[in-house]
Amino acid sequence: MIIKRIALNGFRNYDFETAEFDPGTNVIYGENAQGKTNLLEAVYMLAAGKSFRTRFDKEIIGFGCDVAEILADVLSHDREQTVRIVMKSGQRKQISVNSVKKTASELSGTVTAVLFCPDDLNLIKDGAAARRKLLDNAISQIRPRYAEYLTEFNRYYENKTRILKDWREKPSLLDTLDDFSDGMCRMSAQIIRYRASFAARLNEEAAPIHSEFSSAGERLDIVYDTVSTVKDPTGSVKEIYYDLCDHLEKHRKAELESQQCLTGAHKDDLIISINGQNARSFASQGQTRTAALSIKLAEREIYLDETGEYPILLLDDVLSELDTKRQEFVLNRIGGGQTLITCCEDEGISKRTGGRVLHVDKGRIR
Ligand SMILES: Nc1ncnc2c1ncn2[C@@H]1O[C@H](COP(=O)(O)OP(=O)(O)OP(=O)(O)O)[C@@H](O)[C@H]1O
Ligand SMILES: [Mg+2]
Repeated sequence: MIIKRIALNGFRNYDFETAEFDPGTNVIYGENAQGKTNLLEAVYMLAAGKSFRTRFDKEIIGFGCDVAEILADVLSHDREQTVRIVMKSGQRKQISVNSVKKTASELSGTVTAVLFCPDDLNLIKDGAAARRKLLDNAISQIRPRYAEYLTEFNRYYENKTRILKDWREKPSLLDTLDDFSDGMCRMSAQIIRYRASFAARLNEEAAPIHSEFSSAGERLDIVYDTVSTVKDPTGSVKEIYYDLCDHLEKHRKAELESQQCLTGAHKDDLIISINGQNARSFASQGQTRTAALSIKLAEREIYLDETGEYPILLLDDVLSELDTKRQEFVLNRIGGGQTLITCCEDEGISKRTGGRVLHVDKGRIR
């Protein structure tokens, strides 16, 4: 999976600009606030159909512009395709591949990308939401249905949350509570099954990378943690659904009292341990960083397995956060696929990896 060239029109601080990429490493350097992350954001959107920085497309439209457009030629399995995304204020974004209209979740079949930014280095110490986000972003790209279940789940969750919050003032709201609870259980059952199997693969792929990476050959374990009554999260959707209904039944009163949703996939987590100890509580900063790197690199291997090609790897400002040993490890492992690396100075990365150097200066790429 390779992006050959991109044209940005009214996208963030890019008025109208084009860039050509090397199939290997691309080092994108420039001073602060020149548009490096914006460029990565555009490439990421080609894969995910959405930004990693904002939920609001209108923020992406360049100041003073009416429309933002991303146009890109991508190459996958020897087939070149043109992806176009157009965002207009107050309208749904339009996505097309070779002029055929697509939804955001259908894009995953055309472009895949793994993003790695400094925030990801805190993946293990952060709250559970960060790890759910990792699962959601990763699975959505290889399983378009998952993204749909997730959207549906969020809709039920938001409605149910509102009912639980307001039912005391407006008891008639409770008439629809059961429907939303049931919808949440149905969607949760689907989501849980996908997450459980992805977590198992992440565990398989990340453990050897982490072991190779850590000097003492540490053992990394990733275990999926979901609603307590779910006996087998990799089992059938029906069984998971019944287990969730069980939990719901037992917590019905508690939900009304606490005014919070207590049953569903919104509380899932990944329990990450190093040498048998919970990493979130016990691991050192170096250990958690190594584990986070291993998990991100594992994501790339899973995509390769799934699609037969490495995804585009987007490293936003991450190398400068790493010591030389970890930098070397990452740079040595990224061969085989296309990588876009942003940094403030071209710290000789291109000399080590080959490839192209692009200089970004006030929304111009050279
Ligand atoms: N919708 C928009 N229209 C125009 N400019 C925007 C828009 N959104 C953000 N910008 C501008 O884009 C500029 C560059 O942002 P970007 O995050 O790409 O910088 P960067 O090169 O990655 O910098 P850093 O090294 O600090 O991370 C910022 O000055 C910001 O004000
Ligand atoms: Mg940046």
